[in-house]
Formats: sequence, C-alpha cells, structure tokens
Amino acid sequence: MVDIEGEERIDFLNNYTSLILGHADPQVTRAVQQRMELGSAFTMPTELEVELAELLVSRVPYIDQLRFCNSGSEAVLLAVKAARAFTGKPGIAKFEGAYHGIYDYVQVSEAPTPDNWGDPDAPASVVEAGSPPSVARDVVVLPWNNFEACRQLIQRHKNELAAVIADPLPSAIGMIPPRPGFLESLREETEGQGVLLISDEVMSFRLSYYGAMYDYGIRPDLTALAKIIGGGFPVGAVAGAARVMSVFDHTGDLKVRHGGTFNGNPVTMTAGLETMRQMTPQAYDRLNRMGDYIRDRLARMLVDRRVPARVCGKGSLLTVHLTDQELIDFRSLRGFSRRKPIYGDLCHEMLAQGIVTTPRGVFGCLSTPMTEAELNAFVEALARALTALGCTA
Ligand SMILES: Cc1ncc(COP(=O)(O)O)c(C=O)c1O
Repeated sequence: MVDIEGEERIDFLNNYTSLILGHADPQVTRAVQQRMELGSAFTMPTELEVELAELLVSRVPYIDQLRFCNSGSEAVLLAVKAARAFTGKPGIAKFEGAYHGIYDYVQVSEAPTPDNWGDPDAPASVVEAGSPPSVARDVVVLPWNNFEACRQLIQRHKNELAAVIADPLPSAIGMIPPRPGFLESLREETEGQGVLLISDEVMSFRLSYYGAMYDYGIRPDLTALAKIIGGGFPVGAVAGAARVMSVFDHTGDLKVRHGGTFNGNPVTMTAGLETMRQMTPQAYDRLNRMGDYIRDRLARMLVDRRVPARVCGKGSLLTVHLTDQELIDFRSLRGFSRRKPIYGDLCHEMLAQGIVTTPRGVFGCLSTPMTEAELNAFVEALARALTALGCTA
C-alpha cells in the first residue's frame, strides 16, 4: 500500500482478512470490469449467484444450501434467526470475548472487564451500551476451552437455547486454539441437548478449502461466511444443512423472511467466484505452509531476543501475545487489545517499519501474492519494533 505521503508498506491486514488474493488481483479486477458493463444490480437473481453457491456447497461437506447477504454481521444474524425459528427457542450461547459482528445478541460480553465479568465457570452476560438490557436474558456466555463449564451451562439452559455460536479460531480471543477435543465435545453436547451449533467462519473460512470445521471432523448445523467469498466486495452468506435452511424456504413452510436489496449482486458474485476459483487446494496449502513458516520464525526470533511471548494462529492467520503465561481463554489474555498501550505502540512502530497491522496483539494475515521475502520483512520489522520500544532483553 502507498499512503498519501508516498510511503510504501506491506499490508498484513488485507482489509481485515477479506483479501486473500491481496489488493487489485488482475483477474478479479478484469472480471469485475467486464461484469460492470452488463449492469451492477438487478432485482432478479443472476446465474452467478447460483455458480458461487454451487462452488461453496461442493467444497464444504457440511453446507447443503446457502443464501447471500452483504456482511458477516448479517450472516451471523440470519444464522441466529434460523436457529431460533428451527428450534422454537429464543436463546443463544456464545464464548466470552468472541467477536461475531454487530448484532445485539452476539455482542454480549464481547469485551467484559474484571469488574463485571463474574464467575469464570458461569460468566456474566455483559450487554453493550446501545443494546437493550433485556438482551442479556437470552444470551448464555461460555468460557472458551473449559468444556466441563460449557457442558453444565448448556445442560442448565437447554430448554431456552436455540444454538451455540463458535468460531474455531476466535480472533478476539487472541486466536487461542481450541484444546484437543474441545470443539468435538461441544458438538456432541449440543447435539445431545437439542441445541444447534453455528460455526462463525466469517474470518476462519480462509483456513481450509473444505471449511474451518472440516479439520475437526465436525458438522455444524449452520455456518456464517463472509470476507474472502466476496473477493474484496461486501458479502455474507448464511449456510447450512438443508433441514435447518428450510426455515427460509418460500415454497415451503417459510419461517424466516430474508430480504436485502444487494443480496447476491452480480459484481460481488463475480469477484467472489474469481477469487474462490483461484483458491484451489494447492493455493490453500501454500498459504498455510507460509503461515507455519512465519509463526515458526516469529517464535524463534522472540526466544532469541528473550521477549516473553506466545505466537497463536493457524493457516494464514497469526497473533503474537507479549506474555509467557498460559493462554486458555479470554480472561487469560489480560486485556491483549489496544487497551494495553504496548500493542498500540507496537502497531505504530510497525507502521514506521513498513508493515500494516493492528493493535490487537500483533496481528498478521497472509495473502497469496506474498512470498518468503514479505514474511521475513514482517519478522524483521517486529524485531526492530521491539528493540525500538525497549522490549528486548
Ligand atoms: C468472526 C467474525 N464474525 C463476524 C464478523 C463481522 O463481519 P462483517 O465485518 O463482514 O460484518 C467478523 C468481522 O471481522 C468476524 O471476524
């Protein structure tokens, strides 16, 4: 990226992970330009919408059907509504600290603090300013990686819970990985209690050709998609098993009305198709190997400089935490976000060193045009930034 002063930087944010092919991919750009000449938006569906839906359904074993919308927030909102309509129950459960977009119910306990977060085994439902306090009644907050506490909470609330929503690599919980067996147990428990499982793959869909839950052998009932599937244009999709998606069926027993002026618009669909076609299994493998490479190099650089740190992430996503404490859940991060001045300072220092990142930990997201040179540049910039801020031993 080149800023208004003409300074060049490498973008490790990629529009918050949506640009898996990086900026201005020539094939996407050409396809969109050609599409624009035929019109940008129609009231009727176009065949492009069907083609992108078919491509995604053919790749992800737990998606039978999907419906496009215009953002990840909408996709999550629609998944929650579908779960409520399908089960006839009002509540949802979400993990403390997790980000799922801007729908009131999933914003509960997005950023709780020690003075309001309550019992670690049964976290309080902390409602954001701007949401009605009544929202708290319909949201159960779960502790990440503590399956026994989750099991008890799900059993206690099973008669009110429509769904549990989980992101297999929750970025706002610092990309702390699920403990072995945690997600699998969560799937078993929800299934046993008549509670649906919603997989929020708005960001984590970039981890695998087959869907982010595929590695765990899990079949969520509903999945929220967005970001990379729009190829750089606004997009979202609610997806899932046909029996649950039937709540949207106009020809059957319609329960959830889903409209949207720009849903499935042909420009987004063109960019999404062109992007997803380029994302072959080989392209995912290469990107994921590059992720392993940079995480490994970062870990070694931090050990060499005796900086207490942990490197989290998977595939093409990473977050560095400046702590040597065990990272288990949101609380163990101890305010890893921009509330901790060091991450803001590091983000600014990284900008000065030619790297665009965010102050939520040290965040990195790879794109296919990157090579080892860009990954090395990130590691070296972080080393210099840590030295500049006096973080090294
Ligand atoms: C896991 C997750 N869910 C939902 C959203 C919301 O998506 P959007 O920004 O497209 O509304 C995001 C956005 O970053 C996300 O990371």
